[in-house]
Amino acid sequence: MPGFSFAAMSELTEKLASLQQRLARALETAGDERALEEARAVYLGRSGDVAAIRRSIGRLPAQERPLAGKEINDAVAAMEALLERKREEIASRAIDTALSERIDVTFPAPEPRLGSIHPVRRVIEDACAYFERHGFAVVLGPEVEPDYYNFDALNIPPEHPAREGFDSFWVDETLLLRPHTSPMQIRTMQLHRPPIAIVAPGKCYRRDAVDARHHFQFHQIEGLLVAEGVHFGHLKGMLTGLCRALLGPYQNVRFRPSFFPFTEPSAEVDTTCPKCGGGAAACAMCGGSGWIELGGAGMVHPNVLREVGYDPKRLSGWAFGFGAERLALARYEVDDVRRFIDSDPDLLEQLA
Ligand code: PHE
Repeated sequence: MPGFSFAAMSELTEKLASLQQRLARALETAGDERALEEARAVYLGRSGDVAAIRRSIGRLPAQERPLAGKEINDAVAAMEALLERKREEIASRAIDTALSERIDVTFPAPEPRLGSIHPVRRVIEDACAYFERHGFAVVLGPEVEPDYYNFDALNIPPEHPAREGFDSFWVDETLLLRPHTSPMQIRTMQLHRPPIAIVAPGKCYRRDAVDARHHFQFHQIEGLLVAEGVHFGHLKGMLTGLCRALLGPYQNVRFRPSFFPFTEPSAEVDTTCPKCGGGAAACAMCGGSGWIELGGAGMVHPNVLREVGYDPKRLSGWAFGFGAERLALARYEVDDVRRFIDSDPDLLEQLA
């Protein structure tokens, strides 16, 4: 071939052959995709060995360049093929490894996490059990109630300002989500002849802003005793006993004068802060007051007894409505009612 420089061409061929050998040797120890990429960069990368050779063909006579280019391209193809073969080998080795893995059926399994009774439910159950021990029956009622049971029958006529206090979720003109469990007083007395001794736990709803002490959905425990000769002392005794049964033997109760249309006299009921025992200035539970507010209570209003056809001259009764979450906060020393609906398994497990 005219002008063909045999020396230059054979040197090129030799260089390319030795590169291929070095690549083959490097690939022998390559164990993963990353090692392949590193090898590719060294030999075939933009600043790799082959690129350097390619740049040097500019020094060859013009008529030799096409042949040199073809030699380089062939060498590159061969090296790519080496890389590809190695890649397949690595992949199939990974599959073999995965397939050869065995499941050791004797290996100890992770313990399943057991559920527990929710603290609010436990308070309700224990409160009901306390009253059942004293001869009370547990009754349940609807969460959607006509205004008659929620208000009218409880001595709260349509324009009565006390309706505002029960900021309610209305379903339509006359139906609402019950803002308290007191409708169960009416339902029970309409259904049964006295004496009446019931507790009625359940969900209640109010359009309250959510904070550490309030939620728009909560639970109340209603209690009602109607018979001849029932007086306020019986109420004090039963509620003191309830607090001691739930919160500990040193609990006391305090009655603050209050107003409910369906009781007279009426009271707000507090119990001793179980955390500080009453009166530690820095107590986070009671804010230093020494008392935790549980709910309302009082002697059943004569109008309520009359509404259900009972004779207020012969019969008297007491009623109370306690917040179950309030009792649970005090009992489990939790600082925020929202913690009860977080479904935090750690908290629930800890309180179980
Ligand atoms: N129903 C009242 C409330 O939710 C509480 C209460 C119940 C008061 C029974 C007196 C008697 O605020």
